[in-house]
Amino acid sequence: MDEIRQQFLSDLGKANTPKELEEVRVRYLGRKGTITTLLKNTDFSQLTPDQRREFGQKVNDLKRFAEAEVSRAIEAAKARAAASGATAGVAGLDWSLPGTDHRVGCIHPIALVQMELEDVFHSMGFMVLTGYEVELEYYNFDALNIPADHPARDMQDTYWLTNGMLLRTHTSANQVRALERFGAPLRAIFPGRCFRYEAIDASHENTFYQLEGLMVDRDISVANLIAVMKALLSRIFHREVTIRLRPGFFPFVEPGFELDVQCLICGGSGCGTCKGGGWIELIPCGLVHPRVLEFGHIDTSKYSGFAFGLGLTRMAMMKYAIPDIRLMNSGDIRFYEQFPAAV
Ligand code: PHE
Repeated sequence: MDEIRQQFLSDLGKANTPKELEEVRVRYLGRKGTITTLLKNTDFSQLTPDQRREFGQKVNDLKRFAEAEVSRAIEAAKARAAASGATAGVAGLDWSLPGTDHRVGCIHPIALVQMELEDVFHSMGFMVLTGYEVELEYYNFDALNIPADHPARDMQDTYWLTNGMLLRTHTSANQVRALERFGAPLRAIFPGRCFRYEAIDASHENTFYQLEGLMVDRDISVANLIAVMKALLSRIFHREVTIRLRPGFFPFVEPGFELDVQCLICGGSGCGTCKGGGWIELIPCGLVHPRVLEFGHIDTSKYSGFAFGLGLTRMAMMKYAIPDIRLMNSGDIRFYEQFPAAV
């Protein structure tokens, strides 16, 4: 035991850094350490009860001594490192400086909803297309059966550019472009930014995101529209949602609908979010007007289609119970940080 004590002290003397000292501690006091195994490796049957007691006592003393010595040495080594501002072996590096704060970015709630929807439509065979934020009047209005003098133009206050073009007021502007380019049958969605000349308040922004959908094929009916709407809603809200269709007017669909969902906050009994009514207006949609198909050079005796234009901004607000639309573009990191960094 004296030998072990000598050896221990000599090893301890040679160790300098906290790491080296820790190695010494493990060598003597770890689970398989020299001192720890002393008791295990001794054949007690050779000893008298008194000798056993004395031996046990000595081993414990040695153990306590070694523990105290090694802890003291480790503390001293740490203090030395802190005082000199550098640990041994890494000259000039001040380990006492605070570290850099690594912030993990997060995904904007609108992008989250958009990604989920792209996924579900992709799995149903839809292309994901984008189109143009600066549009021709023709695609934004005329080709959608909204002639120049039509009151429907006033429904969408428009930012006009000095060259006669405009900032698209809805993603529907992609419909005829896609029909011209790809013909029928066609399945496509068009997520993107839209712009309207609006006074900004808690539920209106002049810049917002829509996701348009267009499906043109043989025998497309309202039943197809409803099936696809239900698939997308259950995916977004992770449960069956109750929907209803009300008539809605848009010149580019006939019949046109407003699709409402039963309020997900109160389950339909009436609350602040649904303004007491139990339903929330979520997706305008309808069967594509034959005039629009004709603008896209589609044979209306063979093909029909449905279209919808859901507000991504509104969908994200519903999904995450976001009370004020202005948070979306606020740049306030405390808001964004509440959303996950990855999906
Ligand atoms: N484009 C319409 C809007 O922004 C929504 C819509 C799209 C309605 C497709 C019917 C079909 O208000």
